[in-house]
Amino acid sequence: MRAEGAAGLSEEAAGKETLVARARSRLWRGRWILGAASLALLATSAMTGGPVFAALAGMLFVTAVTVFLPAGGESGRTAEGPALRTAGFSTADLIGAVRDPVIVVDQQTSVVETNAAARSAFLLLEPGTLLSLRFRSPEMQRLLQHLSEAGFEGGEAEYLERVPIERLYRVFASPAGSSGLRVLVFRDRSETRRIERMRADFVANASHEMRTPLASIAGFIETLRGSARNDPAARDSFLQIMQNQTDRMARLIDDLLSLSRLEMKPLIDPDSRVDLVAVVNDVIGALAPLALDCEVAVTREFALDQAPVAGSRDELFQVFENLLQNACKYGRSGASAVVSIAEAGSAPSREFQVTVTDFGPGIAEEHIPRLTERFYRVDTNGSQKGTGLGLSIVKHILTRHNGYLSIVSELGKGSAFTVHLPAA
Ligand SMILES: Nc1ncnc2c1ncn2[C@@H]1O[C@H](COP(=O)(O)OP(=O)(O)OP(=O)(O)O)[C@@H](O)[C@H]1O
Ligand SMILES: [Mg+2]
Repeated sequence: MRAEGAAGLSEEAAGKETLVARARSRLWRGRWILGAASLALLATSAMTGGPVFAALAGMLFVTAVTVFLPAGGESGRTAEGPALRTAGFSTADLIGAVRDPVIVVDQQTSVVETNAAARSAFLLLEPGTLLSLRFRSPEMQRLLQHLSEAGFEGGEAEYLERVPIERLYRVFASPAGSSGLRVLVFRDRSETRRIERMRADFVANASHEMRTPLASIAGFIETLRGSARNDPAARDSFLQIMQNQTDRMARLIDDLLSLSRLEMKPLIDPDSRVDLVAVVNDVIGALAPLALDCEVAVTREFALDQAPVAGSRDELFQVFENLLQNACKYGRSGASAVVSIAEAGSAPSREFQVTVTDFGPGIAEEHIPRLTERFYRVDTNGSQKGTGLGLSIVKHILTRHNGYLSIVSELGKGSAFTVHLPAA
């Protein structure tokens, strides 16, 4: 209460002080007009022979009008109007409250004021520093040149700061009213640029992956119409290759759609229940023809009868399908694969672990962290058939289920891919 009262009193005192200061400044600014008006009143009273006190009353009236009439251009025009000044507000407070780096310079581009964001983003920004010496890129130099011209109305530039870490800024420069100062605001565009690059890379990779089978199909069509026209054996084998390539393109499109659908899907319902034992059994059943084709014997090592998790059955099916497909496709030289289900940890961090192990060629250590990247394939003979999207879909689905994938592999011995999912 007392603190509030004290604040009230000091506000009142500050208000009075402001009024006095304003009256003084008005009188000073209007001194010539006041002088002229007083002379005119005195002259009129002398000429008309009127009483001097009437002239004095007239002068008093003119002075009062000067002090109390609201001034047209003054009120609310300055950055620190009466209300802001009363609150002890300054330009430094204003730019300090802005999260983007802000630099105020004079017309010679020498630093007048900076905010904390600017000082931490750009070293060496003491007041008086010439910005043209601090920001050397040609685009910034052009903006600064422009900014020091008298009629400057504003401009923009791109600026890349390399130290301490690389950041890309869009710089907006504007004149600060009629003060002659200029304000530069630096908007960080690094994240936007990273996303733009990712999108461009993705489109480039996807079109490259489509172009390869398409080029191969086009080549075979040409051969079939030309030299192989009357060669039934060659025709059959070429048609088989063409069919494989179209299958590959269809798979690629399915995988791409699957990825984009996953991105659009809502979050997993925490109350849904899926039994991992049942899903894994279904996957083994569905892939029996592929395992037979690859001559891989799949065995089950289940430590549990049930493994309930919160999630989507179809998505989890896709996860184990890709892992077992990979074990058959890439680990076929080992002639067997083991699928195991176990539990680990205790509530609340109890989880189920489903591991697909193969005894094939294994994966070199440097590739392991990159396997879940889109389109990443280890450059071995067998991997040419895949799209390189399977494991990135696996990772995506597991992240949605609050789970993750761990990979252990040794060259020449085989690989083990383990899915970790929190128990429901
Ligand atoms: N069990 C494994 N043994 C050896 N290499 C593997 C194994 N699993 C995956 N890889 C390597 O990882 C790469 C990426 O696998 P991923 O499942 O993401 O894509 P893919 O199998 O090529 O394509 P898709 O799954 O879409 O058919 C494969 O191309 C292969 O080089
Ligand atoms: Mg795969």
